[in-house]
Amino acid sequence: MSAPHLKIENLSISIEDKEIVKGFNLEIKGGEIHAIMGPNGTGKSTLASALMGHPKYEITKGTVTFNGEDLLEMEVDERAKAGLFLAMQYPSEVTGVTNADFLRSAINARREEGDEISLMKFIRTLDKQMGMLEMDESFAQRYLNEGFSGGEKKRNEILQLLMLEPKLAILDEIDSGLDIDALKVVAKGFNEMRGEEFSGLIITHYQRLLNYIKPDKVHVMMQGRIVKSGGPELAQRLEAEGYDWVKEELGIEDETVGQEQQA
Ligand SMILES: Nc1ncnc2c1ncn2[C@@H]1O[C@H](COP(=O)(O)OP(=O)(O)O)[C@@H](O)[C@H]1O
Ligand SMILES: [Mg+2]
Repeated sequence: MSAPHLKIENLSISIEDKEIVKGFNLEIKGGEIHAIMGPNGTGKSTLASALMGHPKYEITKGTVTFNGEDLLEMEVDERAKAGLFLAMQYPSEVTGVTNADFLRSAINARREEGDEISLMKFIRTLDKQMGMLEMDESFAQRYLNEGFSGGEKKRNEILQLLMLEPKLAILDEIDSGLDIDALKVVAKGFNEMRGEEFSGLIITHYQRLLNYIKPDKVHVMMQGRIVKSGGPELAQRLEAEGYDWVKEELGIEDETVGQEQQA
């Protein structure tokens, strides 16, 4: 295994001919955790979905390499196999597929034929990780996300992270709708993954999560690109003072993208 390395250069992404992400640059090296913070409607989720290969988003410009390979040329399943993982802002509910079945299929889809995880090992690992995340055993046999509360869905995303052991995880607003105890559990799960061979991109509106998951670098996203970068102290200033000072400093009036009719 080698350390992950993501490099995004001058990336522009459109949806239905509207340009949402505009000339975006970011490099994440092995072992690094980056946070992207920003107001709503600035293109954060669009970036995350496009990196995973969501067909709705069109890449109009720029390059993305993952461990030196052209990520944009890869199919969705190839991206997952290469070690990319996205915890979505709004995880879907899937009736008829249990959480355990989903996880086992997802693990095996990322492995070579003949190298499938044994049932014993799978159950042992699942038990251990669900215990760590303080999830009730019944969640293994429930349909994927069906009837899960907001907080349970987020916990379940972290369970997927721990079971799939990706090289680079993107968490899109994993903190939304979590109370402080659930937030701590989610952070504990994520921190289990940390190491030289794992990198993370945490997308969040609020600084709170970053008290428990310490980022190496913090970026502010507005108008579909990174407008400011710094260390953890930048997140603290955003928490204390909001986003207005960044807009003033940079002369930005409307930080959002794709809503040209907005005043
Ligand atoms: N599937 C979609 N269809 C139409 N517009 C979209 C879609 N996804 C995102 N957008 C638009 O792109 C802009 C940025 O959205 P998003 O990436 O979700 O921002 P953020 O995650 O920063 O809140 C918004 O104006 C949103 O309406
Ligand atoms: Mg979003």
